[in-house]
Amino acid sequence: MTTSPHTQTHKDPGSVTPQELYEGIGTGTVPYILDVRNQEEFALWQVEGPGPVPMKNVPIWVAVEEVESLAAEIPEDSVVVCAHGNGSSLLIEMLADEGRKVRNLDGGTAAWAEFLIAKELPNMPDSVLGWQILRPSKACISYMFGAKGGNAIVVDPARFPAFYENLATQNDMKITHVMDTHVHADHISGGPELAARTGATYHLPIEDAGPKVPWPNEPLADGEEIDLGTAKVAAFAIKMPGHTPGTICLHLPGVFLLTGDTVFVRGVGRPDLTGSADELAKELFHTVHDRLRPLAPATMVLPAHWSTAAELGSDGLVSTDLEHIFASTLMQEEDLVKFVHEIVGSLPSAPDTYDTIRAVNAGKVVSAEEIEFLEIGKNQCAASTTLG
Ligand SMILES: [Fe+2]
Repeated sequence: MTTSPHTQTHKDPGSVTPQELYEGIGTGTVPYILDVRNQEEFALWQVEGPGPVPMKNVPIWVAVEEVESLAAEIPEDSVVVCAHGNGSSLLIEMLADEGRKVRNLDGGTAAWAEFLIAKELPNMPDSVLGWQILRPSKACISYMFGAKGGNAIVVDPARFPAFYENLATQNDMKITHVMDTHVHADHISGGPELAARTGATYHLPIEDAGPKVPWPNEPLADGEEIDLGTAKVAAFAIKMPGHTPGTICLHLPGVFLLTGDTVFVRGVGRPDLTGSADELAKELFHTVHDRLRPLAPATMVLPAHWSTAAELGSDGLVSTDLEHIFASTLMQEEDLVKFVHEIVGSLPSAPDTYDTIRAVNAGKVVSAEEIEFLEIGKNQCAASTTLG
């Protein structure tokens, strides 16, 4: 398992790194989270781990006034969270004076927003290593596959290139290909920067590639092969329009299918972000029946998002197989009109920031502050329809 470089060292025994918090939520060693950001920030997004944890929002200026009652109320070893870890550390000292020992989230939600965790994927073919890389603050997923001593491909990277570079170095791989399955609407892609830093070829779907973006790129056509060097296998792109007109996914026959934002463990991608929802939902219908259904049922489905911790398996991975996907009522729907109606009829409204994020991912230049603002909050890429 690999984590963000800046979160690896743990200096203060009274604090936890984002990784320790994430894992502590999963193992139950974090009994409670006290979030002392203001109500507006808390309403936008909260720390979410691989399982449930009791949580309360008490803005810092209220918390310092109510230290005595808070000390009586919250359990020992709770974690206090603020925007940068400073206000919370002051409160922790005050709580200690009241006899309640709690811990601080190092770097606050700013560090949490950049926290990535890589989990090795099981059942890869000989000489191939694969990782699912979770970004809990946004419930976004990227991937890296490669061969030791050979090449690696990174798919849908977050905007923290050093993480992927370190993972490749640690495993004696060279990142030669970087790919975005589509022009993302929910987060800023790290693809162009990672490709520029590593000298890798940057791939996009044909519909989004070429002169449509200002950085060097090579469109990835349906069925095109990507060579991982010493590995005996090659990945194939499989075009799966639906969420966006040109979404392209990676398929290693009989092993895995990266579904991007097209199909999730418990839902399908919303079809309304880039044009006519009806038209794209129809495309999704054809993708499901013409492209997914013929594939091997045991193929591991690896999506680009999750929505709730319920989608994480006991191994911490977000994955299922095609057999499970096709057990759902929606995927068994053979009537095009009913399928489209079921998806389009229940769509949540799209966040205001999504058009701007797509523009940035297509080359619009904005400030670092605006990028941080645009990335606030969990993805909302799934249609509300659930599979199951
Ligand atoms: Fe997305």
